[in-house]
Amino acid sequence: EKGGYDHFMLKEIYEQPSVIKDTYRGRLLANEGIIRMAGIEDNLEKFLNADRIIIVACGTSWHAGLVAEYIFEEFTRVPVEVEYASEFRYRNPIIGPKDVVIAISQSGETADTMAAIKLAKEKGAFVFGVCNVVGSSISRETHAGAYTHAGPEIGVASTKAFTTQITVLTMIALRLAKAKGTLSNTDYHMYLQELELIPEKVKEALGTNDIAKEIAATFIDAPNCLYLGRGYNFPVALEGALKLKEISYIHAEGYPAAEMKHGPIALIDEQMPVVVIAPRKGHYDKIVSNIQEIKSRSGRIIAVVTKGDTEVRKLADFVIEIPETSDALSPLLTTIPLQLLSYHIAVMRECNVDQPRNLAKSVTVE
Ligand code: F6R
Repeated sequence: EKGGYDHFMLKEIYEQPSVIKDTYRGRLLANEGIIRMAGIEDNLEKFLNADRIIIVACGTSWHAGLVAEYIFEEFTRVPVEVEYASEFRYRNPIIGPKDVVIAISQSGETADTMAAIKLAKEKGAFVFGVCNVVGSSISRETHAGAYTHAGPEIGVASTKAFTTQITVLTMIALRLAKAKGTLSNTDYHMYLQELELIPEKVKEALGTNDIAKEIAATFIDAPNCLYLGRGYNFPVALEGALKLKEISYIHAEGYPAAEMKHGPIALIDEQMPVVVIAPRKGHYDKIVSNIQEIKSRSGRIIAVVTKGDTEVRKLADFVIEIPETSDALSPLLTTIPLQLLSYHIAVMRECNVDQPRNLAKSVTVE
């Protein structure tokens, strides 16, 4: 059942190279410069005419939506809003026929997301689903959709669903960018090629398992933990913190790194582990100065960096190296060591990794 792994969560983390490939199989033809997904092709006009895209989801799926916001706006120049389904449904949202709503749900059964979809439909919006479970309620309720093809996710903490959601959403953004001409030809082809290389690079990122375990041993007794990232990796910081909270019961918060000085920096002392996502591309110099700020307050720094990094290494207590990719695709790699880190911390704390207390795999009540 667990394929030789101690937990479903670990199995699912390790499945990511192959399920990401399953997600883009037949849809991404990098050498031909083609992305084709039936649900998008059949509704291309709706997407192209949209004044804005509203993404609704909960939990980890909401974090995938936040990553998608950065990607969609950069690639397609269409304004995107990302909403917690539970907030959206109760606040009389301004929404109409010129809006496209993308609902993201691994289970396809989340009550709040379902209610948000029904409301958006009533108001005339076109609703597109990104679900994992085939034939699920949300996949049936939406006008069209694209499955993530991650296979069954048994561990309550979502892992492979997150990376495959990002993969699907990236493909949608690239398809729309091609139709709109909002990405240069060079960039468009570069992203297709890069996306095709992601499974190999995720495999390489899984090689951080040993260092993640070593770091976990140092932090098992930490009462709190901070996760910081910028740009595309800000949502990854949120997701890293959520993973730690839900399976290890350590309080953790994710923040955009620059928000530190607006409050959370007050928390930093030598007891506080701070996980910083600092890949070479993106806002590297900015994040290096954020790391210096933490260092000068004696925070303990765990940095996720691009292979070969030397600058952050000088400042951090631990570095975790991941392969290089473009800034926009980096969440697919930076997420991996954070999943492994929470996993090992939870195992060392003897928590029930696959079935954390108080949590259910699909939240069918509001
Ligand atoms: C976190 C987690 C939850 C779900 C959330 C939405 O690891 O699993 O936060 O992401 O309950 O679930 P779905 O995606 O099934 O709608």
